[in-house]
Amino acid sequence: MTNEMFDYEIVAREDFSDVTYLLEFHHPLMAKAARPGQFVIVMSHEHGERIPLTIADFDKKKGTITLVIQAVGKTTREMQQTCQVGTKLYGVVGPMGDPSHTGGAKKVVCVGGGLGVAPIYPQARAFKESGAYVIGIVGFRTKDLVFWEDKFRACCDEFIVCTDDGSAGIKGLITDGVKLAIAKHPDIGELVAIGPPVMMKACAAMTQPHNIKTVVSLNPIMVDGTGMCGGCRVKIGGQVKFACVDGPDFDGHQVDFDDLMSRLRRFKAEEKTALERWSESCRMKNEIEAASLTRQSPAYSPDNLPVEPSALPDPFEEVKGG
Ligand SMILES: Cc1cc2nc3c(=O)[nH]c(=O)nc-3n(C[C@H](O)[C@H](O)[C@H](O)COP(=O)(O)OP(=O)(O)OC[C@H]3O[C@@H](n4cnc5c(N)ncnc54)[C@H](O)[C@@H]3O)c2cc1C
Ligand code: FES
Repeated sequence: MTNEMFDYEIVAREDFSDVTYLLEFHHPLMAKAARPGQFVIVMSHEHGERIPLTIADFDKKKGTITLVIQAVGKTTREMQQTCQVGTKLYGVVGPMGDPSHTGGAKKVVCVGGGLGVAPIYPQARAFKESGAYVIGIVGFRTKDLVFWEDKFRACCDEFIVCTDDGSAGIKGLITDGVKLAIAKHPDIGELVAIGPPVMMKACAAMTQPHNIKTVVSLNPIMVDGTGMCGGCRVKIGGQVKFACVDGPDFDGHQVDFDDLMSRLRRFKAEEKTALERWSESCRMKNEIEAASLTRQSPAYSPDNLPVEPSALPDPFEEVKGG
């Protein structure tokens, strides 16, 4: 095999909003092996953190993998600045995790909120390919943040957009969309939800009284991604499981969401410090560059300063798309 097959070159990038961006990178073997529901662990540079990201799309013909990333902290923010078309990711491991089971159910609801909007897409597409009637439900803050509407419409028999301000689709939380779908379709066989834990918890609570099979994709903190470190421990029906190897998909009615949410908050202080340190180093770098630019051109504008930590999205908020 040649190096060309593993160059991780970024071949496309799209910015959906100030904080959400798409990266498509080249890796034919990974694209060939990828299945809906799987994820990769990415290192953007030699000294970078390893972060798990769901495979939002894969193209076997082009040999590419697509990721959709929300800038929520140091690494995702750093990647937003450095990962441009033509640059290369330092390392990518995957596809990891159990693929989603996208067969069997005749009528399926696929719900994506916040970080989950992009990862729910390959599942909706796979359900459609299996012959199911697919109802897609996605949530965004406002109309301007909506993305991939055409892709979803192409594989969904019904597609509901929920926005916080009502500027597109229905006004309300994603759970309002789920309520509508359940009321309209008494024969839903399965609901799949990907997004903030609080959203998945709410979806599972809504489907339980109707006895609708509910699958959620869990996002605990991962380190090695091989089942060795225990970092991604989750409680399912009172048993301990490792999301990286036993999941990330689990029965939503069995998940201890409160445990998941408290474990996700364990490193809040360290994450804040890492982001502040990185923002400070970017600010200093920009000031040095600005000083040299000012010497050459008085028209310098400090627009490229990094976003302040307080302006970044909170990955735990109920439904923040885009
Ligand atoms: C299986 C899986 C799939 C994911 N898919 C996506 C995706 O498709 N798009 C996307 O934008 N994000 C995804 N995430 C979340 C993403 O990994 C985190 O947002 C990212 O690691 C944050 O790193 P940071 O340094 O930017 O922010 P930090 O400030 O370090 O962290 C912000 C929050 O992200 C979470 N986080 C931090 N480090 C990790 C880690 N090593 N593993 C998991 N979560 C972490 C924590 O909850 C933390 O509070 C996924 C997570 C998992 C476990
Ligand atoms: S990430 Fe280490 S056990 Fe799952």
